[in-house]
Amino acid sequence: MVMFPAVRPRRLRYSPVVRAMVRETSLSVASFVYPLFVTFGSNVKRPIQSMPGCFAESVDVVAKSARDVHALGIPAVILFGIPERKDEQGSGAYDPNGVVQLAVREIKHAVPELFVITDVCLCEYTSHGHCGILEDGQILNDPTLELLARVAVSHVRAGADMVAPSDMMDGRVLAIRRALDSEGLATIPIMSYAVKYASAFYGPFREAADSTPAFGDRKSHQMDPANRREAIKEAAIDIEEGADIIMVKPALSYLDIISDVKHAFSVPVAAYNVSGEYAMVHAGARLGWIDYEKVMMEILLSIKRAGADLILTYFAKDAAKILG
Ligand code: PBG
Repeated sequence: MVMFPAVRPRRLRYSPVVRAMVRETSLSVASFVYPLFVTFGSNVKRPIQSMPGCFAESVDVVAKSARDVHALGIPAVILFGIPERKDEQGSGAYDPNGVVQLAVREIKHAVPELFVITDVCLCEYTSHGHCGILEDGQILNDPTLELLARVAVSHVRAGADMVAPSDMMDGRVLAIRRALDSEGLATIPIMSYAVKYASAFYGPFREAADSTPAFGDRKSHQMDPANRREAIKEAAIDIEEGADIIMVKPALSYLDIISDVKHAFSVPVAAYNVSGEYAMVHAGARLGWIDYEKVMMEILLSIKRAGADLILTYFAKDAAKILG
């Protein structure tokens, strides 16, 4: 290999024009998905303490927020519901007049061009905060699938453009695909939270969605953060079952996983830049220890560089303003 002084990598760094010409990765607002939290009541806009700039909003208010998101050029939102009542089965999740179903209708009415994704899970709707039906403290896998399929169908009937199962039960992509197809909804894609780790980075979200498990944790279904090879297995299973987009979650501590999944499969990869990742940047910036905008853009760029086609992020609006 030719060495210094013939080789000088800095030659391509002196000029901002050349730096831009040889830049390998670029961020685009077109790849952002902005999460919205929908709650019951009217005229509600409740700040989420550990997620500055994020709110739990009632259906009437969320439609206005969706309009603002779209005006910034962000093409899609993902909806999470915070219902008025919770029960053992999480029946609010598939109520045709549940918070998410109502919000989907309102948003599609207010901003038809905005692509509306819904999170499909039971944990925000169950009294115990677990992602499925419980028996003797265990989450039952197969009986939960039927409920998840009902949730997905109810979201799409309300007008959702894509569903995103986040529960990590075995077989749920197939159950949802079959249910959608048998309802004549074969054209609706599934974005699977295929590679979802049992992460402490979900802390602020659980405060927002009031979905912290009443006992125990999610380690019996979400992945062990120590595992890398298993991510490929999970993604392969979900693709086989009919997932159209594969998600890796969280993003920042799992860039190696995003890269692995990107290289192993030819489906689009989404990465979820989760609540704890967002909260950390805000906390650091508030203390004056880091530059909010620069760190935010560097994080988003790193997720894109690792291989994410889509980025679900609470930073979407702030980043869109910078990207212009
Ligand atoms: C489950 C779900 C969670 C998140 C998205 N969907 C929480 C969990 O698994 O406990 C976390 C998102 C975030 O932290 O930003 N419905």
